[in-house]
Amino acid sequence: MRKAAIGHLSFPSDSHCGHIAFVSGGTGGIGSVIVRDLVDLGCLVVVAGRSREKFETLFADLPQDRLTWVDFDAARAIDDGIRYTCEAARCFGRMPTLWVLSAGVHSENRKLSFMNATRDDYESVVSLDFDSTCEMALSAANAMAEEGLPGRIVIVSSSTGGESSWSPYRVAKRACNAFARQVSDELKRDNIGIWCVCPGPTATKMLHYKDGSPINTHDIQAGRLVMPEEVSSLVNELLLRKELFCTGESLFLSGGRGTFDCH
Ligand SMILES: NC(=O)c1ccc[n+]([C@@H]2O[C@H](COP(=O)([O-])OP(=O)(O)OC[C@H]3O[C@@H](n4cnc5c(N)ncnc54)[C@H](OP(=O)(O)O)[C@@H]3O)[C@@H](O)[C@H]2O)c1
Repeated sequence: MRKAAIGHLSFPSDSHCGHIAFVSGGTGGIGSVIVRDLVDLGCLVVVAGRSREKFETLFADLPQDRLTWVDFDAARAIDDGIRYTCEAARCFGRMPTLWVLSAGVHSENRKLSFMNATRDDYESVVSLDFDSTCEMALSAANAMAEEGLPGRIVIVSSSTGGESSWSPYRVAKRACNAFARQVSDELKRDNIGIWCVCPGPTATKMLHYKDGSPINTHDIQAGRLVMPEEVSSLVNELLLRKELFCTGESLFLSGGRGTFDCH
């Protein structure tokens, strides 16, 4: 067996058991499935969200000693607020080492274009989907690095980040993909991996999808919406990645949308 010449070559665990995970947007359609899967896989999970009530209702059936809630409203959590949320995330007594950043909003106005988007349209989407997401990733990475903890960070981006950036949402998601690529080089020295997962249109309330609605769509070559469970499965594979050869990548779960299929 060859001996590694440098340290930090592998994540010290084969399973999620014993890890503490942090999920922002954990009360959303994609985030809530990720929370459930992480609990099932043996993690203790910190859910960061805007409404404790929503958290309690949504996860009432899960073992209550395995998950907890911290207050996170990106509209209020600039600068110190993000650091505060990261500190609050130590509520199980240790810093989480698996981070899933899934909080996001889409513009209400779906008819935006380069020509008619206003500064407010950009501000309302980019401040959450890019600014606070990346600030949270950096804050988490710094805290883990300071304690010498290997860690994994997955940002839930979007296949639209690979398309022409004609809307604030696309700008924000493209910027997240670029951020992960750029910052990964520094983070891997501390054995911290970072990825973006880029789903195509997914069956959640963001697309006004309700339980029981049809999942067929013309918005993606596959002809059907991506299911949140499929996003969660990819996120979980990345969280357990042992080596970091592919760190910084954006993985598209979109049947080609945003990559070879430029919608
Ligand atoms: N659905 C899609 O088609 C699709 C496709 C590609 C990528 N995505 C991305 O996937 C991620 C999750 O989306 P989803 O489909 O699960 O949508 P969702 O069901 O609407 O969930 C969005 C989550 O973001 C949280 N959030 C919204 N504004 C916030 C704020 N100011 N501060 C903190 N949290 C806030 C929501 O909290 P509340 O529960 O309090 O509302 C909710 O937990 C987003 O980043 C989205 O851009 C979605």
